[in-house]
Amino acid sequence: MDDPRVRPVADLATMRVDYGDSLTVPAADADLDPAWVADGWEPLLRHWIDEARALGVAEPNAMVLATVSLAGPVPRPVARTVLCKGLAPEGVIFYTNYDSAKGAQLAADPYAAASFVWPALARQVHVRGVTERVPAGTTAAYWAERPRDSRLGAWASHQSRPVASRADLDRALAEVTARFAEVDDIPVPPFWGGYLLRPDEVEFWQGRRGRLHNRIVVRIDGQNTTVERLQP
Ligand SMILES: Cc1cc2nc3c(=O)[nH]c(=O)nc-3n(C[C@H](O)[C@H](O)[C@H](O)COP(=O)(O)O)c2cc1C
Repeated sequence: MDDPRVRPVADLATMRVDYGDSLTVPAADADLDPAWVADGWEPLLRHWIDEARALGVAEPNAMVLATVSLAGPVPRPVARTVLCKGLAPEGVIFYTNYDSAKGAQLAADPYAAASFVWPALARQVHVRGVTERVPAGTTAAYWAERPRDSRLGAWASHQSRPVASRADLDRALAEVTARFAEVDDIPVPPFWGGYLLRPDEVEFWQGRRGRLHNRIVVRIDGQNTTVERLQP
């Protein structure tokens, strides 16, 4: 049987990285310590994204966003990747279609979790809390940075809805391209914008030898912040 679709690419059970040996991160990466979040969680997350970018990690600001679907008989988690497009002490910002599946889920239950993972650095960060839509001005400022084809794509896609074929999608793009042909500054679609995920919990994780990893969790409760080390 030589069909590459059924041939295993590797023995998954034996794939193993012992963090601490084979990292691209500087070998002298010290043990993650509560002192690293003395100024809050945001500078450390920013620093880790910067270091991932410096090491050539593709999309170092990608995060897996989990929401809760209340559409069925029992609540179910739903996860997908989005890009973190803003970072501030208040939280992390991402942009999407408000009418998408995630938009509907956040309207019904605003709680979300976002996980950044950089395996090449043996690091991950989890951000958990409540989301809110960002002000229209914040969305407009980001929209101004988006290239024309991304703006057209946002207008063309009824994100998360079914579409009969690729050709239908291309037709939708052709329609909005024609519609905005004479428009220099394509406006923000009314169904599109940003969310701020305001964390009440941020966990930093650093892989270590023998699976004895370092975990530091920052909990934010109003003006009170506590920092705790967790077992791996
Ligand atoms: C690396 C990467 C980055 C992505 N960034 C975004 C993003 O910033 N916003 C977005 O709406 N979708 C983004 N997507 C697509 C989402 O993962 C998802 O397919 C889409 O938002 C629809 O999700 P939903 O149906 O759960 O709402 C990205 C996908 C990948 C792989």
